[in-house]
Amino acid sequence: MITQAIQLHPAPPHVKVPQHPVWPALSADEKSALKERIKALLKAQNAVLVAHYYVDGDLQALAEETGGCVADSLEMARYGSSTDAETLVVCGVRFMGETAKILNPEKRVLMPDLGATCSLDEGCPADLFSAFCDAHPDRTVVVYANTSAAVKARADWMVTSGIALPIIRHLHERGEKILWAPDRHLGHYVQQQTGADILLWEGSCVVHEEFKGFALERLKRLHPNAAVLVHPESPEDVLQYADVVGSTTALIKAVAQLPNEEFIVATDDGIFWKMHQLAPNKKLISAPTAGAGATCESCAHCPWMAMNALQNLEQVLITGDNAVTVDPATGVQAVKSIQRMLDFAAANRISGALPGR
Ligand code: 13P
Ligand code: SF4
Repeated sequence: MITQAIQLHPAPPHVKVPQHPVWPALSADEKSALKERIKALLKAQNAVLVAHYYVDGDLQALAEETGGCVADSLEMARYGSSTDAETLVVCGVRFMGETAKILNPEKRVLMPDLGATCSLDEGCPADLFSAFCDAHPDRTVVVYANTSAAVKARADWMVTSGIALPIIRHLHERGEKILWAPDRHLGHYVQQQTGADILLWEGSCVVHEEFKGFALERLKRLHPNAAVLVHPESPEDVLQYADVVGSTTALIKAVAQLPNEEFIVATDDGIFWKMHQLAPNKKLISAPTAGAGATCESCAHCPWMAMNALQNLEQVLITGDNAVTVDPATGVQAVKSIQRMLDFAAANRISGALPGR
């Protein structure tokens, strides 16, 4: 079957990658006092934390201690509607906050930093994307969760990495041709696994794009018993060495369930917090982002996820600033593609949650 990598005219914009923010160090006493203040604020405001595995471990721990959610983007999307909390505080990146708001327009959705975006989202502006869809009206439009509300509003389906394969397989079996955006690596992987006819947008994740197949192959030789875990936003030359390819939840499950003692992990190293929690005796090694002496923009840690910290979380709960807003008309359109995914997940018992959570 066909995968057409297309060149857009004009090409998607170059995405400017911010520096990693540097947060002032906190003593153990300062950190514990700050956490207690945040817990009191959450309780007083009937608010709950919804955190991604890539954010700082302190935030993930706090989300768990306060009865919130730490998850992949599929479960983060589902979770907001399952809680009675009136405020969702999304510790992650902008598209996660927008998805929570679209699905729960009656709730207040806050984020520590509204500037926490994503290179995939930034690299797929709604006007260019809409023109791309207009040029291919015969195709079913499937977009990755890592997109703006306006892009989701133009889509038939939204998918996350945890559910992309079964949904594309389902559409392919129905004889549908796909227009896929924005991550070309995930799109290519899904095409190879399903044989579907997919037309790809040219976006990529700046974090996963930096993993290098040749360096991974060398590292694998040094650790012959290590299992290699790869997120499918990584390039094909990295995916070829994977023992497990999957969403963040799937990679965490692999560490907990496989018998190996060592793992080479090709995704954001924020995920190590949860992996260590579930498998404290296993050795985790970051996949190489480049050859010897080379530099990289993200070094296996998303600069936008790093904009979330205890300090700005407290601030946002005090001020109520950084409320996520979505234009209501856009939200009404966008919810259709998201809900279609959630309904498919429920009907096929596909979950982004870890077992027992
Ligand atoms: P998951 O849905 O696998 O958690 O991935 C989200 C993401 O942004 C990966 O870079
Ligand atoms: Fe986006 Fe990549 Fe960051 Fe995930 S890791 S939020 S895909 S830039």
